[in-house]
Amino acid sequence: MSNATTPLSDIYSLTQDQTRLFRETLDRTAVKVAADELSFGVEFPQVTGPDGEWVRLPASLSAGYDGDAWSHGNWFCGFWVGLLLTSHLHTGDAKFLEWARARMLLVEQRADDPNTHDIGFIFDSSAVPGHHITGDARFADIALKAADKLRARLVTTRDGAYLASWGPLADPRGRSASAIDTMANLSLLYWAANHADDGSYRQAADAHAAMTARAFVRPDDSTYHAVEYDLETGARKRGYTFQGAFDESAWSRGQAWAIYGYANSARETGKLAYIELAERLAEYYLRRLDGRQIPPWDFDATGSDADIKDTAAAAIVASALLELARIHPSADAAAKWSRHGVAMLEALCRDEFTKDGEHGLLHNSCYSKPHNIGVDGATMFGDFFFVEALCRVVHPGKLRPLDAPRIPLA
Ligand code: GLY
Repeated sequence: MSNATTPLSDIYSLTQDQTRLFRETLDRTAVKVAADELSFGVEFPQVTGPDGEWVRLPASLSAGYDGDAWSHGNWFCGFWVGLLLTSHLHTGDAKFLEWARARMLLVEQRADDPNTHDIGFIFDSSAVPGHHITGDARFADIALKAADKLRARLVTTRDGAYLASWGPLADPRGRSASAIDTMANLSLLYWAANHADDGSYRQAADAHAAMTARAFVRPDDSTYHAVEYDLETGARKRGYTFQGAFDESAWSRGQAWAIYGYANSARETGKLAYIELAERLAEYYLRRLDGRQIPPWDFDATGSDADIKDTAAAAIVASALLELARIHPSADAAAKWSRHGVAMLEALCRDEFTKDGEHGLLHNSCYSKPHNIGVDGATMFGDFFFVEALCRVVHPGKLRPLDAPRIPLA
């Protein structure tokens, strides 16, 4: 049965209890965001440490190599702007928008950062929704500048093109490497294609999605965190990990970024193959969840490490499945993905939402277990994608547009 004419309220089909829970969670979010905003000065929150306090970084911290050591820089700063914007959206309180505008000016300097794919995370969570909510062209100008830098990361090989994830492109280490996380950063390119009516952004994103599907997805539909490509042929030289348990393991957040990226890619390219891939990746994720709603940080972690959860992965998957449900051409499939997305969101609200007075929104995110950073605390990206998912059901169309697939899925 077709989903094309089903009202969104029927696709998500929330009970009264769920509607109340999701609205109240956004109420509590706005109170927490207002309390924290006043304590940050010009810095931005990253993760909560073992003492429960936010670790804070300046927005200016750029990505780069220090000798052989790679630093991701502050790729979290846009998410805070996003939480200020969603708090404005939910409460209508103008002070959140004023704060978001002021912070956007601090974040804007990163739109020139040529060293990282994370420019997508930074600006798709801040300037893009800022423009959608306010219509203010200044937000769009910033986002477009960032999209140019992301598109410039395209590396062309004999067998396709991909966006290099980390490092200056002149450095072979950066040029040959790509990460599954980049799939979620394609949103900025798709936005730019639509906003500027310039298909080259979409072509870059689509090329990356096609090459990632070939190189990152294993036969069982799990994904590599990172791939090193042969720069000439485009062949995968190796699949490996930075944040997963080991190179061949299934890092749950990587799987989440992939589901999220292929659902968006399906909507923006009209390719049914991307919907089908998003579903296969989601089926793998559900199989490994085995009835739980929150995954371990890595599905192949063993011993006591297997008890460490990643609520950020759950939030990203919830948001992705709600979008997959909205755009899916089949009503039955839409109902299935909606049911899973809503259940994940409900579990996050009921079991993982931090107490009032504590910092952050979600307990039990895991930024990087191998580096022992942000384990068992809140992370900015977990909190942002959680609120994005809540907005999809409570404020549909207000944070992100409710675009139908750009061309009919085929
Ligand atoms: N760089 C994105 C992540 O840590 O998942």
